[in-house]
Amino acid sequence: MIEIKNNKKIDLESIPIDPFWNIGDEKELRIHRIHAYPAKFPSFITTKALKYAQDEGVKPNRIADIFCGCGTVAFEAKRNNIPFWGCDINPVATLIAKAKSNNYQTWRLLLYFEQIIEAFQNSKKSQYCYGESNERIKYWYSKKQFNDLSRLKEAIEDTIPNGSKYNTFFLCAYSNILKPTSRWLTKSIKPQVDPNKHPAKVIDRFKEQCYFSITSNEESDAVHASGVKIVKANILSSKLKMPKVDMIITSPPYVTSYEYADLHQLSLLWLGFVDDFRVQRTGSIGSLYHDSDFEKNKKRLNNIGNKILNELLEAHPSKAKSVAKYYVDMQNVSKTCYKMLNKNGMSLFVIGNTEFAGVRIDNAGHLVESLFDAGFKKVNVTKRKISKKILTPYRDNNGRFTTDSQGRKIYSEEFIVIGRK
Ligand SMILES: C[S@@+](CC[C@H](N)C(=O)[O-])C[C@H]1O[C@@H](n2cnc3c(N)ncnc32)[C@H](O)[C@@H]1O
Repeated sequence: MIEIKNNKKIDLESIPIDPFWNIGDEKELRIHRIHAYPAKFPSFITTKALKYAQDEGVKPNRIADIFCGCGTVAFEAKRNNIPFWGCDINPVATLIAKAKSNNYQTWRLLLYFEQIIEAFQNSKKSQYCYGESNERIKYWYSKKQFNDLSRLKEAIEDTIPNGSKYNTFFLCAYSNILKPTSRWLTKSIKPQVDPNKHPAKVIDRFKEQCYFSITSNEESDAVHASGVKIVKANILSSKLKMPKVDMIITSPPYVTSYEYADLHQLSLLWLGFVDDFRVQRTGSIGSLYHDSDFEKNKKRLNNIGNKILNELLEAHPSKAKSVAKYYVDMQNVSKTCYKMLNKNGMSLFVIGNTEFAGVRIDNAGHLVESLFDAGFKKVNVTKRKISKKILTPYRDNNGRFTTDSQGRKIYSEEFIVIGRK
């Protein structure tokens, strides 16, 4: 762990990898896999962060994850009996995070499961008509798959009252079968149709998913702590009421990498969160579709943000505007974290650098500068290896992994940046 003194500029890439942050000391619980989530980080990061905090004399009475995603930190905080507050702008993320961190009784889950299957089998036809459904849904599903998925959703809703935590559990299971039962090309980060795919049979896939979710919940059944609060909100909204916490553990969204709304479009549409998934891009940090005041953003950028922007303006002007917005958002995120922390509190970020059009996108360096500007008195940085991504660091034009070194380079290392108030 390197301490950056007085916002001194150092080349973070030269920091050695610290094996402490590379792998966990125990097998990850299956509950962390009840729903796929892009950019989910390994659960052991929380365990390591808590150990690090303890060594530094921070005893968190409450933890927050301001970009809680699928609730990795939420669940681990609960496991450690520490009250938690999490927030994410994506309703699919908060659905999963809630399903993971609620306490469920297995017998009740099994009972509801049987009732849902029975209700599905007894229903002949969905009340929704394929021809009149959302164009985007028709794009991904055949008539038969559409009808089965509609009937299944109705069966869940008819069996468990809306607002019940059990409803959340089964909708989460339902959400995770939407890709395998569609024409979506798996193993790609870009949404595209796979013309050769044989989509999974809806009811079979749902049964398998429920079996996995219920047994995973049972595996983590020893965990009965309460005090987890998950909210669907934009962390930068001035109306959001955030609690005071002693520790923040989070991984911010990236820019030029994922378009979360697009990746979650099936769940967003089927679960009725939006009629047009593109609406979900609004407010999402790192989205390339922001229409904000570029000239104003340019003036607000810190030194590293400015440097990256100027290089991008040369190399890829069309991306420069959204990158400027991203860095201004991240500067505001740093200020928000500072505000949320109690005195001596700690904010830990897992953040990766990348490259775009030949320009080094130094997210970690930018964050370090933002933290100092926000008032953090001490900033430490270290580097970790991303184990699953080291097979090949390249992606082809379709977003699939490739061994071709002409592809887009993705990073196989990332930074742990820790600010102390
Ligand atoms: C890198 S992911 C976090 C993944 C998480 N650590 C996990 O293990 O699942 C970043 C998250 O930030 C969320 N996000 C983007 N913009 C946001 C905003 N303005 N407010 C709150 N969350 C936002 C995205 O929806 C995404 O879930």
